[in-house]
Amino acid sequence: MNILILGSGGREHALAWAVMQNPKCDKLIVAPGNAGIAQIADCASLDAEDGGAVVTFAEENAIEFVIIGPEAPLAAGVADRLRAAGILVFGPSEAAAKLEVSKSFTKEICDAANAPTAGYGHFTEAEAAKAHVRENGAPIVVKADGLAAGKGVIVAMDEQTALDAIDDMFGGAFGGAGAEVVIEEFMEGEEASLFVLCDGEEILSIGTAQDHKRVGEGDTGPNTGGMGAYSPAPVLSPEIEARAMEEIVKPTMRVMAERGMPYQGVLYAGLMIKDGEPRLVEYNVRFGDPECQVLMMRLGAQALDLMQAAAEGRLSEARVNWAEDHAITVVMAAEGYPGTYQKGSDIKGLKALPEDSMNMVFHAGTKADGDRILANGGRVLNVTARGDSLEEARDRAYAMVDQIDWPEGFVRRDIGWRAL
Ligand code: AMP
Ligand code: GLY
Repeated sequence: MNILILGSGGREHALAWAVMQNPKCDKLIVAPGNAGIAQIADCASLDAEDGGAVVTFAEENAIEFVIIGPEAPLAAGVADRLRAAGILVFGPSEAAAKLEVSKSFTKEICDAANAPTAGYGHFTEAEAAKAHVRENGAPIVVKADGLAAGKGVIVAMDEQTALDAIDDMFGGAFGGAGAEVVIEEFMEGEEASLFVLCDGEEILSIGTAQDHKRVGEGDTGPNTGGMGAYSPAPVLSPEIEARAMEEIVKPTMRVMAERGMPYQGVLYAGLMIKDGEPRLVEYNVRFGDPECQVLMMRLGAQALDLMQAAAEGRLSEARVNWAEDHAITVVMAAEGYPGTYQKGSDIKGLKALPEDSMNMVFHAGTKADGDRILANGGRVLNVTARGDSLEEARDRAYAMVDQIDWPEGFVRRDIGWRAL
């Protein structure tokens, strides 16, 4: 099978790594890819958000299956264009991708599905939004309705912060994404994520994970795209996972199908768990990054079979072959991230590291310059390991981190602390 993966992050490196292990894969192209991906697959420069260009590229390269990594091509309808051209694709339609693209859409679907989530109000002008905040008081959560690269959510611990956030959003701080605002009840608890595959009808759990969003140790400092993750998430016990499936995921998928937007692809349910009860924080219509890295480490080659079964509507036949294992990924980021950082510094010591089913360094923002690997982004490497216990996986991952010679980079030393 000839396969095309769209994307360029650590998530796509992990997807490519898993796909390459499956003997079914004859040829793999990743577009645009990165320096790490280029070591295991062909990379092509292609505008992943241009549906017409992706279809033409797929036809010219005899691609039989396209896996879409990030949300932007999904939001741009690339999966629809591929399907219309008769090319098998893993990823939801533009209509179904609204589960990530619009927070008010998701709240409304949750209402229809009777899925437990935070109470909310949806506003198209600032004064009504502010009145809602004054009425309900803090803590309260202010969200730009649209995609804002993970930055459109303000968890306001006092009323003034919430009022200022409303002014910022309606003032255009998040562009079009902030033209509408959702204000939510603040939920307490512990966050964890559940990943499921859907084929429009059937749903299959492919694992749980927790990430570390804050830049600093002890979960302090500004938010990032994620500084590390591990799977499974112990807080999502089998009982709580079953509740989340029955009360949240399945009813949501049913409503999507009833409304003519059957969901196909991976659904990432961000959950808040308190007193044994899961509530939905958000949906994403893609794998998490870096959560995908730990899921792929645990699933390995079968990930391709599972994604193909979802795309072909055969999930009812699919089974996940679980090992009783744990995986962890530690993000190495450029000094200064998530603020301003330098690009172009030299990363040494990568060649000496093991690359096998227990240990992998996935590349996120890297660039090759001859034999050298240079930093080329904020989150740069995802040092990932598997073990019989989370401790064993963690020790392996940090042992690799310690062999990487990159003075301009940093890591959090406490990835996994909640579970350990
Ligand atoms: P989102 O992009 O919706 O996942 O929000 C980003 C982060 O903000 C989440 O991962 C939570 O940590 C936090 N958050 C979002 N909504 C709420 C809420 N209603 N209550 C408490 N925290 C929230
Ligand atoms: N790591 C969080 C996300 O991918 O949205």
